[in-house]
Amino acid sequence: MPQVKKIYKMIFLIVIMVILYGVDSCVAQSEAPEPNPPRWAKQTNVITVTERPQGWRIETAASVYQIAVARDGIVIPVYYGPRGQPLQVRKANVNVSSKVGSHIREVPFRGGFIAQTPAIEVIFPDGTRECDLVYSSSEIFETDGFPCLRIDLRDPAYGLVVSSYIRVIPELDILEKWIVLKNMEKEPILIENSQSGSIWLPVEEYDLFHLAGLWGREFMLHRTLLTPGVTTIQTRDFVAHENPPWFAVTPSRQSSETQGPVWFGSLHYSGNWRLDFEKSPSGNVQIIGGINFWDTTWELKPQEEFATPKMVCGFSPEGMSGASTRMHNYIGQHVLRKKFRDALRPVLYNSWYATKFNVNEQQQLELARIAKEIGVELFVIDDGWFKGRNDAHAGLGDWTVDKKKFPNGLQPMIKKINDLGLDFGIWVEPEMVNPDSDLYRAHPDWVLHYPKRTRHERRNQLVLNLARKDVCNYLLESLSKLLRENNISFIKWDRNRPLSDVGWPDAPRPMQYEVRIRFINNLYNLIDELQSRFPEVLFESCSGGGGRTDLGILSRMDQVWTSDNTDPADRVMIQYGYSHTFPAKLMVSWVTNADWHKVSPSLKLRFHVCMSGVLGVGTDLTKWSQEERKLATEMIALYKKIRPLVQEGILHRLHSPFESNRAAVEYVSQDGSEAVIFLYNLWETLPGSTPTARASGAVRLRGLDPDANYFLSNDRSGRASGETLMNMGLPWFVQGNFNSAIVMLKKQTQ
Ligand code: DGJ
Repeated sequence: MPQVKKIYKMIFLIVIMVILYGVDSCVAQSEAPEPNPPRWAKQTNVITVTERPQGWRIETAASVYQIAVARDGIVIPVYYGPRGQPLQVRKANVNVSSKVGSHIREVPFRGGFIAQTPAIEVIFPDGTRECDLVYSSSEIFETDGFPCLRIDLRDPAYGLVVSSYIRVIPELDILEKWIVLKNMEKEPILIENSQSGSIWLPVEEYDLFHLAGLWGREFMLHRTLLTPGVTTIQTRDFVAHENPPWFAVTPSRQSSETQGPVWFGSLHYSGNWRLDFEKSPSGNVQIIGGINFWDTTWELKPQEEFATPKMVCGFSPEGMSGASTRMHNYIGQHVLRKKFRDALRPVLYNSWYATKFNVNEQQQLELARIAKEIGVELFVIDDGWFKGRNDAHAGLGDWTVDKKKFPNGLQPMIKKINDLGLDFGIWVEPEMVNPDSDLYRAHPDWVLHYPKRTRHERRNQLVLNLARKDVCNYLLESLSKLLRENNISFIKWDRNRPLSDVGWPDAPRPMQYEVRIRFINNLYNLIDELQSRFPEVLFESCSGGGGRTDLGILSRMDQVWTSDNTDPADRVMIQYGYSHTFPAKLMVSWVTNADWHKVSPSLKLRFHVCMSGVLGVGTDLTKWSQEERKLATEMIALYKKIRPLVQEGILHRLHSPFESNRAAVEYVSQDGSEAVIFLYNLWETLPGSTPTARASGAVRLRGLDPDANYFLSNDRSGRASGETLMNMGLPWFVQGNFNSAIVMLKKQTQ
C-alpha cells in the first residue's frame, strides 16, 4: 500500500508541475533528454543566457534575437524583431520529441523533416546524404571589441561539427552570421551547400526590396510582395550589375522611408551568392544567404574546416532611412579598410572618356595641368597605357608599359604630374587576358576553359583562372613591379566580363567543382598581399561600372566606380538606388559631357549631381571654355567645403526621382549643426510630375535641431528654424527642367 500511495503522490506532483509550468512555459521540461547542458564561458549584457527557453537572447539598441535549444537538442530560432514585444514561443517548437524532430532550425540542415531552405547539405563518406545537428557546446566571447556567440552543433552519428557564429554590433542593430564546418571523419565529407546564416521573421505580409539593373542602369530599386514559396536573388557568373547582394524586408503597407520596421542585410562576398526568401504556408518568412553553390561543391578533407563568408542582418524600427543609415555606418566603421576609413576621398580626374586607349605623355600632362588648375587632387590614367593596348583587342595580361606610347616609361610623366601637386593613379584589369597578349601566348592553359569547348570571349577577353596559384603569383609579381617602379598612389581595379566556361581541366576532379570559391579566395588573398606590400595605395573597385559592389570587395577597395552612365539625369536615379545600402563616401561620380537623353544638361547640373558623392571629372578638359573652367573651379572649391558633410554626414533621401520629376537628398553632420541639400529638377513629362516652369511646393528636411536657427547659404540665403525646415519645409525654389541647386545650412551658435 505505501507503494500505491507513493505513486499517487508522484502523479499529484506531476499534475501540479504541469499546471505551474506547462501551459505557457516554453522550456524543455525536466523529462526532456538533457542536450549537453550549455557551458557558458562568458556573458555580456548584449548576449545573455536564458533559462526559459533554454538558450540565448541577443539585445541590440532596437532589436531582440532569441534562440533556444529544443528538447530534441536542435537549436531553434525563437524571435527576431523589435524590442518590447512579448515572446510567444510555441511550446510545440521546443517540446518536440526526438522521434519527430524540430523542423524549424537556427542552422537549417538537410535531414529528417525539413520545413526550411537548408543551410547545410552534405554527403558523408558512406553515402548518407542527411545530417542531424544537435547542440553540443557554446561560447560567448569578444572579437575585435564586439560580443560574439558561437554555438557548436554535432552530428551524433558522424564526425561533423558545425559552428554557428553571431557577432553583434549592438549600437547599429547589426548581427554578423557565419558558419564553420569541421570534418572529424577519416575520409572527406562532400559539402553540397553551406550558407552563411538564416533568420526567421514573425508571421506577416512582407515586401522585399532589392537592387537590380544592367550595365549603365545599376542599382535600380525593386519592390515585390513575398508570396508563399521561395523568392531568390542571386548571381551565377560573378557579375552583380543585375544584383548587388542586399535586401530589405518590410511589413507591407506598414513601413515607409522614415517609419516602421525593416529587416535588412547583405553578404561579405564577391563570388556567386544567393539570398532566398522563403514564405511558409503559415506566413513566417525565412531569409537565408551565402555562397551560391550552383555547379559547385567543396570536398572537406579530414580535420579541415570550411568557413562561409559573413551574412549581415540588421533591424531598423525607423523605416528604410534607418536601415540605410545603419548600413552606411556599418560599412564606414566596420567594413572599409582601417587605414582609409576616416580619410576624405580625393577629387579625381580620370582620362578614360577624354582619351580612351589613345594615351601619350604629352596629352596626359596637358589634361593633368588643367585638372590641377580647377582643383583636382588625384590624376588617373585609365585603360590603354600597357603593352599592345591600342584598342580592346589586345594587351590585357601584359602589365608592362607600352614603350611606343611612353618611350621613357611612366615614371617621368608621373614625376611631372606629382610636381604639379597631383597624386597619380592607374587602371588595371588583372583577372582578364586578351588572346592577343604575350601572357596568353605563353600560357593558354591559364584561362578558365574546357578542352573541347569554345572559349567564349566578351570584349575580346577571357577570364584567367585565379583558382591557380601560379596565375595569382604572376599577377602579384607583375602588379608589385608596376607599383614598385612607379609612384602610384591609386589603383582602379576593373573587371569587364562575366564568367563563362568555368573549367579547370588540370585540377584533380573534386577541385574542379571548387573553382569559383577558390577563385574568390585567391582574389582576396592577392589584393590583401598587394595591399600589405603597398599600404599607402588607395583602391577603387570597378566592373564595367558598378558591377562589383559588395561587402567582400569593400573590405579591400576604398571606393567604387558607380556606373559608366554619367548622364546626370540617369545618374540621379542610379545614385538614389545606390544610397539604400552604400555610403556616399564610396560613390565615385565623374562630370563628363554624356548626354544620353539629348537634353543638353548644364555643366552646373552635372557638377551638382556628382558633388553628392565622391566628385570626379572625366571629360576632355582641353575642350572646356574659360567660363567652363571657371565654373568647374568654383564647383570643386564648393565641393571641398561640403565634402566632410557628404562623405561623413548622415544621408536623408528627401524626394525620390522615381516618384516624380524631382529628387532631393540631404546630408547632415553627426551633431545636426550643419547640412547640405541637393535639389534636382528632371523631366517634366514623368507621370505625377510637377511643372518645372514655376517653382512650387516644399521639401521637408530631416535630422536638424528643431529648436535651433539655421543660416541658409549658396543657392538660397536667409535664416529659418530647424522646426520650420523640418515641418513646413524648404521651398522648392528650383525652376525649369534639368536645373538644380545646393543649399547649405549652418546652425546659429548663440
Ligand atoms: C570599364 C570602366 O567602367 C570604364 O570606366 C573604363 O575604365 C573602361 N572599362 C576601360 O576599359
